[in-house]
Amino acid sequence: MNTIINDIEVIKTKASKIKEVDFDNLKFGSVFSDHMLVCDYKDGKWQAPKVEPYQPITLDPSAKIFHYGQSVFEGMKAYKDADENVWLFRPLENFKRLNISSKRLAIPELPESYFMDGLKTLLEVDKDWIPKKEGSSLYIRPFVFASGKGFHASPADEYKFIICTAPSGAYFAGEVRVLIEEKYSRSANGGVGFAKAGGNYAGQFYPTQLAVEKGYQQVIWTDDTNHEFIEEAGAMNIFVRINDTLITAPTSDRILDGITRKSIIELATTENIPVEVRKISVSEVVEAAENGTLKEMFGAGTAAVISPISGFGYKDKDYELPKLNDTYASYLKKRITDIQTNKVQDPFGWRMEVK
Ligand code: PLP
Ligand code: COI
Repeated sequence: MNTIINDIEVIKTKASKIKEVDFDNLKFGSVFSDHMLVCDYKDGKWQAPKVEPYQPITLDPSAKIFHYGQSVFEGMKAYKDADENVWLFRPLENFKRLNISSKRLAIPELPESYFMDGLKTLLEVDKDWIPKKEGSSLYIRPFVFASGKGFHASPADEYKFIICTAPSGAYFAGEVRVLIEEKYSRSANGGVGFAKAGGNYAGQFYPTQLAVEKGYQQVIWTDDTNHEFIEEAGAMNIFVRINDTLITAPTSDRILDGITRKSIIELATTENIPVEVRKISVSEVVEAAENGTLKEMFGAGTAAVISPISGFGYKDKDYELPKLNDTYASYLKKRITDIQTNKVQDPFGWRMEVK
C-alpha cells in the first residue's frame, strides 16, 4: 500500500523479514532492513525520492558504474536510547561529504532535503530495525552511482541515490593488528583519496588481502611519495598516543576527513587531553614503540567506532602495544557513544533526534 510520509511516497513491503533476524548476534552489515530509499537523477535533475521494499535493482550492462566506477558512498548510524527515541550523529556532515565526494567524481550533487527527509522517512518506516542492544546500531549506507548507459568514458547522464540500512554489531570481530604499508598507495596528491569513492576501497583490497594473509586486519596507508608518514587505515582514521599526547595526521587530498576523527579532536581538546594534528613519521612511531613511549594506537570511524590497535607490523618486524588499564581509547569511546545514544548531555549539538 502506498502512503505519504514527510511528503515522500512510501511503498511498504508485504512480507517483513524482521522475524528472521537474530538481534542478539548481529554481524556488521550483513542483514538488510525491509525498505530502502531510492532517488533517480534523469532529465538533468534529481527526481523525488521514494521509500520502497528492499530489493535487487536492474541495470543496463553498459551502466557507467560497471566500467568507470563512478560511485560514492557514506557511512552513518542510527541509535535507539532507553526510551526508544531514535538519534543520528552529525548527519549533515555526512550529507555535505557525500556532495564533496560526488563533485570530485562529476556526479550531480543532491539537494539537502532529499537526503535528510529521505533518511528520516526511511528510519521512521524501519524504526523496528534499529537495535537496542549496547554496541549495536543501525548502520546506514547512502550511496550514489552512475546508472546511465554507454561505453564513452565520460560522466553518465543518469544516476541513482539509494539509502539501505543494516542492523549491525561491531565492525571488527576480534583484535586489530595493522601493517604499515611500504609499497602500495591508497591515494595521491590531486587524487580522490579525500572522497568516499568506491574505487578507493577496491584499490586497497589487494594490498589488504596480502596483509590479512600475514595476520593483520588493516593496512595503515603511508604517504605515496616516500611511505614515510602515517596517513589512515582502510576504514578508519588513525590516532597515536605518545606519552600523554594524542596525535593524528592532518587531512589532505589523500585522507578522508572523518567525522569521528574530528569529533575526537574536539572532545579531547575540551577535556584537556593534549591533541596534536600533525604529520607523524613511521620512524617516530617505531622509535616510540621501542623506547616505551608509544602508549596507544587506535582507529576511529563510524563503522569502527574507536578500535584499539594491539600491535603493528613494519619492515617484517612486529611491535606490540602495551596493555594499559585506563586508555584514551576506552575513555573517548565511552564519551562518544554515550553522546550518540543519548545517555549524557551533548554540549556540542552533535546529536539529532529523528521524529
Ligand atoms: N577513513 C576511511 C578510509 C573510511 O572509510 C572511514 C569511514 O567512513 C573513515 C576514515 C572514518 O570516517 P567517519 O568517521 O566519517 O566514518
Ligand atoms: C564507515 O565507517 O562507515 C565506512 O564507510 C567504512 C567502511 C569501509 C565500512
